[in-house]
Amino acid sequence: MKQENDTQISFAPLIVGTMRLGEWGAKMSTKEYEGFIEECLEMGLNDFDHADIYGHYSTEEEFGQVLKQRPELRQKMQLTTKCGIKLPTPRRPDFRTQSYDSTKAHIISSAEQSLKNLSTDYLDLLLIHRPDFLMDPSEIAEAFETLRSAGKVLHFGVSNFTPSQFDLLNSFTPLVNNQVEISLTHLNPFEDGTLDQCLKHRIIPTAWSPLGGGAIFSNDPDEQTVRIQKACDILCEKYNAGRDQIILAWLLKHPAGIIPVLGTTKVSRIAKALESTKINLSHQEWYELWEASKGEPVP
Ligand SMILES: NC(=O)c1ccc[n+]([C@@H]2O[C@H](COP(=O)([O-])OP(=O)(O)OC[C@H]3O[C@@H](n4cnc5c(N)ncnc54)[C@H](OP(=O)(O)O)[C@@H]3O)[C@@H](O)[C@H]2O)c1
Repeated sequence: MKQENDTQISFAPLIVGTMRLGEWGAKMSTKEYEGFIEECLEMGLNDFDHADIYGHYSTEEEFGQVLKQRPELRQKMQLTTKCGIKLPTPRRPDFRTQSYDSTKAHIISSAEQSLKNLSTDYLDLLLIHRPDFLMDPSEIAEAFETLRSAGKVLHFGVSNFTPSQFDLLNSFTPLVNNQVEISLTHLNPFEDGTLDQCLKHRIIPTAWSPLGGGAIFSNDPDEQTVRIQKACDILCEKYNAGRDQIILAWLLKHPAGIIPVLGTTKVSRIAKALESTKINLSHQEWYELWEASKGEPVP
């Protein structure tokens, strides 16, 4: 088991999301997963973001096939996965309707299944995927302690939690991360206290769908997207960069240290994304993009 100070975790400047690599996107073969993983590692991007449900419960295992064949890769990477959503699918015939389950039994059995799927004996980070309206924080804390003391999970966090839900659970068990949707098309975390809380407690905010799930590149853009594209294009020219790079640089500018969780399935786009870490937008440019998203100036 890997031993580490379990109150600390650090990430590369960008996290590689796996949601679209398998059944929900690129449908990669094991060879393609292997090439993708190797190229990310070569770029210094060693954080891979999973969830039990991705690919209707198939992506973890496909990724894990690479680690089964190449176990030496495991120590070069950090693995995050998530639990707590029960997604109806023929692979889980007992799940009649989509629901959330943060009981101790479910968290532990889900984490153990993820360990098997990913061919690893520890997870670097386990997140509760969505706030369960029926969650009992003391039970979640017990589940985390059981997994932590068995050396099966090093760090714990949540995803899609409001600041008050985060505070509640964090008062029972230390959380290191809130993974939330943040992008130029989803500004809520800037305004609802999520990023204030991260700054205050030095919690790492990670941003899913940092490019709006790809909507920003739509050929049939809505009005907001047109405004964002126009504002981006001015900066693309100035920084000799692509729209994706400007949008990522916009997230990276925030002092909370937002870490984008990339969704692309293409290594060339990941390499470009990494270049965005070199772009330092001015405050004014940041607000020009904010204004383009909102469709009105800040008050
Ligand atoms: N915690 C949660 O609740 C939650 C929810 C959703 C996602 N996630 C995590 O966040 C990760 C990222 O989410 P996401 O996939 O929605 O992120 P995203 O990066 O906003 O969107 C990815 C999509 O945009 C496309 N794209 C990226 N760059 C492009 C470009 N330059 N031109 C045209 N299209 C481009 C990609 O297509 P290509 O593949 O063709 O590049 C892909 O379809 C997921 O993998 C998952 O790990 C977490």
